[in-house]
Amino acid sequence: MSTLLLGVNGQVGHELRRALAVHGALLAPPRTRLDLTDLAAVDDFLHQHQPDTIVNAAAYTAVDKAESETALARRLNTELPDLLARYSADHEAVLVHYSSDYVYPGDGDQPWHEDSPTGPLSIYGQSKLDGDEAIARRGCSHLIFRTSWVYSARGSNFLKTMLRLGGERDSLAIVADQVGAPTPARLIADASVHALRRYREAAELGGLYHLAPRGVTSWHGFACEIFRQARHAGMALAIAPERVSAIASDDYPTPATRPLNSRLELSRLENAFALELPDWQSQLSLTLHDLLP
Ligand SMILES: NC(=O)c1ccc[n+]([C@@H]2O[C@H](COP(=O)([O-])OP(=O)(O)OC[C@H]3O[C@@H](n4cnc5c(N)ncnc54)[C@H](OP(=O)(O)O)[C@@H]3O)[C@@H](O)[C@H]2O)c1
Repeated sequence: MSTLLLGVNGQVGHELRRALAVHGALLAPPRTRLDLTDLAAVDDFLHQHQPDTIVNAAAYTAVDKAESETALARRLNTELPDLLARYSADHEAVLVHYSSDYVYPGDGDQPWHEDSPTGPLSIYGQSKLDGDEAIARRGCSHLIFRTSWVYSARGSNFLKTMLRLGGERDSLAIVADQVGAPTPARLIADASVHALRRYREAAELGGLYHLAPRGVTSWHGFACEIFRQARHAGMALAIAPERVSAIASDDYPTPATRPLNSRLELSRLENAFALELPDWQSQLSLTLHDLLP
């Protein structure tokens, strides 16, 4: 059995390298070895190495830049998954892929189900949705995990930005009208490798799943919990909890529009793979622990 992991130096990819290590031979070419925008090179690589499982954690994730770099976002988020799915269908390989809450329109206050109508608000969201649909159309064996608000101890993400700003500033204004679940890369990797193992024994488990911790918060709520837990863990901060003010998305304009409601219904994943997802607060403390000196 040989597994190809793409995006090994990203937040999720890094955790997947650890989680997949016990599952046989792992091939994990970094960008310097395989440029994923070069689809002909990717195709050659697949035919040369003939993996029977592909785990695609690579993506174009610069949500705001995607509004102006549309072709690049589509190449990585739509055309690359389509190519991987075509190879998987032709070679009876399994494709594991990651998608986003940004495929949903973000209205209302109810959780999105995997079958809910989509309606991306951004180029990034549209490119991710088109990637999901391309995989389904190719008819290969696959697992797609739609996740939200990813963070980890490495890379750039909201957690690390807050820890930096909270150490430098004595007041901050954070968006409070976008609601979702902050999801650590470690949880994504562990849950998806668990699901992959079960899927190898039960082909009917293939398909699309939401993957996030239980519970929801806003970016403002996430920031306050980061500062509360960081202070409790002994990290030095300049910011006081009462100086973190709540603002609306309209007060913080960005090139790409974000969904206000990113709540994801999680029961399909829990039921299919006998998983009990943890709450987002306990997951935050695990990642904070990784950042402690
Ligand atoms: N981040 C979020 O908040 C979020 C939310 C929902 C869903 N997701 C989805 O979750 C998955 C993993 O996200 P993540 O946060 O782990 O992403 P990430 O940290 O941005 O990692 C993306 C990976 O893709 C690689 N990559 C990008 N362009 C490449 C190219 N031309 N050639 C080779 N490699 C290239 C990057 O390589 P380098 O390391 O060399 O740059 C990096 O390893 C993605 O499918 C993403 O859409 C993410």
